[in-house]
Amino acid sequence: MTILGIETSCDETAAAVVRRPAGGGRGEILSNAVFSQIEAHAPFGGVVPEIAARAHVEHLDGLIARALRDAGTDFAGLDGIAATAGPGLIGGVIVGLMTAKGIAAARGLPFIAVNHLEGHALTARLTDDLPFPYLLLLVSGGHSQLLVVEGVGRYRRLGTTIDDAVGEAFDKVAKLMGLGYPGGPAVERIAREGDGARFALPRPMLGREGCDFSFSGLKTAVRQLAEAHAPLSEEDKADIAAAFQIAVADVLSDRCENAMAAANDIIPPGHRRLVVAGGVAANMVLRERLMVSAHAFGYEFVVPPLKLCTDNGAMIAWAGAERMALGLTDPIDTGPRARWPLDPDAAPARGAGVKA
Ligand code: KG4
Ligand code: ZN
Repeated sequence: MTILGIETSCDETAAAVVRRPAGGGRGEILSNAVFSQIEAHAPFGGVVPEIAARAHVEHLDGLIARALRDAGTDFAGLDGIAATAGPGLIGGVIVGLMTAKGIAAARGLPFIAVNHLEGHALTARLTDDLPFPYLLLLVSGGHSQLLVVEGVGRYRRLGTTIDDAVGEAFDKVAKLMGLGYPGGPAVERIAREGDGARFALPRPMLGREGCDFSFSGLKTAVRQLAEAHAPLSEEDKADIAAAFQIAVADVLSDRCENAMAAANDIIPPGHRRLVVAGGVAANMVLRERLMVSAHAFGYEFVVPPLKLCTDNGAMIAWAGAERMALGLTDPIDTGPRARWPLDPDAAPARGAGVKA
């Protein structure tokens, strides 16, 4: 089954062609074209929704043509078209969704509306043919969740952020130190030169029961630290970045350890795997810490290659292929969704400023 996947929910315009073997098994990425809009948003220190939507309009057609060309195919060689239908910035989602529907209608192809988060969640099956169930830490710019992935479309949320997402915290910390956008890679880069022990930062939720996260207090503590030491030298910035990254690693590993303990009742031995997905999974310090936690709990640690951690079309094509293999295609009048939880039955997170 050969599927074209389209991703336009944030600041990456992406199109990819992925093949799923008929009997299941890992997928084959035939092409994976990504245009990052970073340059367009960098002057504003974050993603500007209207600029993002317009840039998707400008670049998407060319990226689709490139993805097909790189894959050595054309529309006639496809079995279906998948596009992110949410959650995300609604203007951008509409661009990708309408384009996919147009192609599907014109070519008489099945159309699959993909939840962007499911794209991240199923990437480990594309790359590693992972069997269900598995434990997933999903950490991106908009989401921080711990979920048991029970099947396609079947998620059990164990924890979520009660305020900021991890990636959002990285982006805000980078912005307040003038490191530019996106913040995650910038913070990781300068933290390498820093002394993480020079400053003490709080570890919100550490040691508490449950698997929820909170990052706004940590971000505020970083702001206060930065203000207290202004103007910041390069060394100060590196030390703050290093301290922040270690604090995040402490919190995430603590939350994952609680999740692994809780998931032991749900995930049978032999299936105990901790998968990390989403843009923040690109961070090497976090990966190493989470790997240590996973192994301490008898879990295998699985993390997709870097370019499949950040937003891309291959994960959307793959989620589309998995859904289509189960007969889960969508009507052409499927609408875009700004919000779209993976586990709609999960109780709302409790706490101040709840976003999730
Ligand atoms: O999954 P993603 O590409 O887009 C969303 O769905 O949000 O994640 C983007 C987020 C941004 O907040 C970015 O700063 C963060 O992932 N990120 C990182 C790293 N690379 C990207 N955070 C920490 N360390 C990194 N190396
Ligand atoms: Zn994402």
